[in-house]
Amino acid sequence: MSRIVVVGSMNMDVVSRVTNYPVPGETIKSKGTEFHYGGKGANQAVAAARAGGHVTMIGAVGTDAFGTDIMKSMQLQGVNMSGVSVKPGSTGMAYILVNDAGQNQIVLTEGSNGLLLEDDVSQAFFDKAQVIVLQNEIPWETNLSVMKQAKALEKKVIFNPAPAVRIPEDVLPLIGTLVLNESEAEYLSGRPVESNEDAVQAARDFIDGGVREVIVTLGSQGSLYIDNAGSRIFTPAFPVQAVDTTSAGDTFIGCYAACICSGNPVETALRYASAAAAIAVTRHGAQASIPSLEEVEAFLR
Ligand code: RIB
Repeated sequence: MSRIVVVGSMNMDVVSRVTNYPVPGETIKSKGTEFHYGGKGANQAVAAARAGGHVTMIGAVGTDAFGTDIMKSMQLQGVNMSGVSVKPGSTGMAYILVNDAGQNQIVLTEGSNGLLLEDDVSQAFFDKAQVIVLQNEIPWETNLSVMKQAKALEKKVIFNPAPAVRIPEDVLPLIGTLVLNESEAEYLSGRPVESNEDAVQAARDFIDGGVREVIVTLGSQGSLYIDNAGSRIFTPAFPVQAVDTTSAGDTFIGCYAACICSGNPVETALRYASAAAAIAVTRHGAQASIPSLEEVEAFLR
């Protein structure tokens, strides 16, 4: 069984469905508001577990009821929660507006995620890991410390730089697989990414900087993979009717990590990840929308 350690955020998502986003100064009525378990780290951990991975979560919740609920829910998904600390104060929150096109706008309050420090991450969790998955919703110093430990232990890091923050040049060689969307690729490479060829150019910049593999997710277009050995794989997206794209990227990454760790070739892992993300966008909520491996296989058939 694959062994995946996810170090990252855990949030309670407050999701309101709206026809259109309000403009500054405007008050609008939503079509309804729901609470969903979210956070990029937790979503990726649940996606990897539902795709058959053996997953350990390292993160932090607050002392409120949201923290307890998120912990219980993830345990039920089979995620090992022994790496999660409880910090004084509130659990991370995300305020999400989903419009009729299924797009979202998100405002984050980091809460306990911002208190996850280097000392909370024991190296013992990495000893048996095949891959370590990171995002950008915990302090950068914690991510950096994990990347350095992973390098010393020769463990592969999958890094999803979301929300996008500049990556120092000397950090790029610590990243095994960089997974980012078009807008993150544009921000981090400083190049416009408006076509597949633009995405290739942006990805090459990261490879030239020392990253081994880059995956640029291109929404309804699919995804582009390139690596430092010269491989280039374009995986088309599956056409579906999106109702909520929240956590589509997280679903892709978790499923990809689990498939790679199970020994699948990159092409297969990309196809499974693409199918999992396609299913997720047809459902509401973050973790609530993530399919199981059986659902992904049925979809592919
Ligand atoms: O990627 C989606 C996630 O981003 C949401 O679940 C929300 O918590 C924010 O972290």
